[in-house]
Parts: sequence; structure tokens; C-alpha cells
Amino acid sequence: MEKVILNNGVEMPWIGMGVFRMDNNEETVEAIETALRIGYRHIDTAAYYFNEEAVAQAIRQSGVPREEIFITTKLWNDDQRSGKILEAFECSLQKLDTDYVDLYLIHWPVADRFVHSWQVLETIYKSGRARAIGVSNFKQHHLETLLKSTEIIPAVNQIELHPYLNQQDEVNYCLQHGIRPEAWSPFAAGKPELFQEPLLNELAAKYRKTPAQIILRWDYQRKIVTIPKSSHANRLAENIDIFNFELTGEEIDLINTLNRNERVGSDPDHFNF
Ligand SMILES: NC(=O)c1ccc[n+]([C@@H]2O[C@H](COP(=O)([O-])OP(=O)(O)OC[C@H]3O[C@@H](n4cnc5c(N)ncnc54)[C@H](OP(=O)(O)O)[C@@H]3O)[C@@H](O)[C@H]2O)c1
Repeated sequence: MEKVILNNGVEMPWIGMGVFRMDNNEETVEAIETALRIGYRHIDTAAYYFNEEAVAQAIRQSGVPREEIFITTKLWNDDQRSGKILEAFECSLQKLDTDYVDLYLIHWPVADRFVHSWQVLETIYKSGRARAIGVSNFKQHHLETLLKSTEIIPAVNQIELHPYLNQQDEVNYCLQHGIRPEAWSPFAAGKPELFQEPLLNELAAKYRKTPAQIILRWDYQRKIVTIPKSSHANRLAENIDIFNFELTGEEIDLINTLNRNERVGSDPDHFNF
């Protein structure tokens, strides 16, 4: 698995396994174990996914050493509102059965709270219990506020990003400021229409790949980390097999024309959770 170097020197695999909407049950553990067996070394979870314990169980059962795996988890909104940030972080560590995470993210920019939350994340980072800290669902104006009032530049901004929402301005802003963009719902949460796009299918035929692989390669060539979710071994394998072909600049531009500024999730300026 190829890795990107974050702004503090920490290495992060370009592709991780997203584990949202997977419950804490046998199937989840099995899917994560499968992913680790076939080469995944990066798992994206969150306190809100209620499966940090399943992640820990899968890692234990896989036999892959903890230090080989890049684990991201996230601070949930209610914990920002209550101010119990350190407690929430410690709870995640306990559930993940580890004494550090590789990346700790603020899950959503809770208005009037996120600057304070970031300052607490900075203390966590300095304590060595998070190798990197970052944000999620931050628009440019949220990042501008953060950069004006805090010390550490986020290592990552994890945002909704797929061909129907290519986020080019946000990606440019992040890259210009040393913040690594990371795509959540890279397949628009599995929208069938996206996989049926004629352009993606033409490129898939040309490169003997699948539309999913074309999308993930488009992300990679745009310098974006991705965390596709799958519970199927064949798809998990497919989703990391993107490092042996290259799209042309013209093809990247063509995929960019599929943009509709269409979200599958909430707008970070108008979320109600
Ligand atoms: N920070 C945030 O606010 C936030 C929000 C949402 C998600 N996330 C993160 O992003 C991750 C991914 O997003 P997501 O789970 O919403 O959606 P996604 O990765 O865009 O799509 C997942 C869907 O695509 C299907 N799929 C996966 N690989 C495929 C392939 N090769 N071919 C065809 N279908 C395929 C999956 O089906 P099967 O599982 O049946 O294979 C599933 O239905 C999450 O798991 C989570 O870690 C973060």
C-alpha cells in the first residue's frame, strides 16, 4: 500500500477501509479481518459509528501488529457541546484497545465549539496519544477561522467527495495550506447511478478496471486519500488495486465534468445533529 506523508511527517496509507454503517457484530469483525489479510493497513472509524470495539477485536484476531495499522477515529458532536473532549478521546482509546490513535478528527464543525475542541486536540497531540490531528466536514471558512486562532495546522480534512461533488476549490485550498484532503463516501455511498456512468464505464473498459477503481484512481491522482467502505472480500481487494495504471490529465478533467455539487450527506453549514 502506497503512503502519503502528512504535514507533520507521519505516513498515512492512501486508501483505508471505511467502517461506517457496520454494526458491532461478527460480520464487521470478519470484514475488517479480511481487509487486513489482503493488505489494508488503514481503518477509518468514529465514536459515532459504535464499532471501535469491533475494530479492536478484528485487529487482535488478525495478528497484524498494532503499529503497522493506521487508525483514525473521530470526536463526536455531543462531546464537543458538552466539552467532555478528553473523556471522549479516552473512551475511544479504551474501546480501540490502544494507547494511541494515528489520526484524531473533529467529526463536524460544531458552531462556537470547534475552535475550543481543536485546542484540546492540540493538547492530545502534544501528549503523543494522537500521532496526527485533523478535521472533518470543514469548509474553507471553518478552516480560515481555525488557522487564525490556533497553533497547529490540521493534518487532514475529511470531506464528502465523489464525482458528483468533486470539491475542487476545497481540495485546492487544503493542498495550498498543507492539509491533506480525504474523501468520505467516494462512491456517493454506493449510488447505482454513479457506477453506471457511461464515462466511468468507458474508462474502466479501456484500462481493464472497474468504475469503482476509476473513481479511486481519479482521487489518488488528485492527491486525495480515500476510505471506501465494503463488506465484501472481492470489492475490498478491488478497491486497493489501483496503483498499476494511470489516467491521463484529459481523463481526469472529463471525470471532473460529472460534478453536480450534489451531496449524499449533510451540508456542514446546515447539519442538525
Ligand atoms: N467524516 C464523515 O462525516 C463521514 C461521513 C460518511 C462516511 N465517512 C467515512 O467514509 C467511509 C465511506 O463512505 P460510505 O460508507 O458512506 O460510502 P462509499 O464508500 O462511498 O460507498 C459504500 C458503498 O459502495 C459499495 N461498494 C464498495 N466497493 C464497491 C465496489 N468496488 N463496487 C461496487 N460497489 C462497491 C458498498 O457495498 P458493499 O459494502 O455491499 O460492498 C457500499 O454500499 C465510511 O465508511 C466512513 O468511514 C465519513
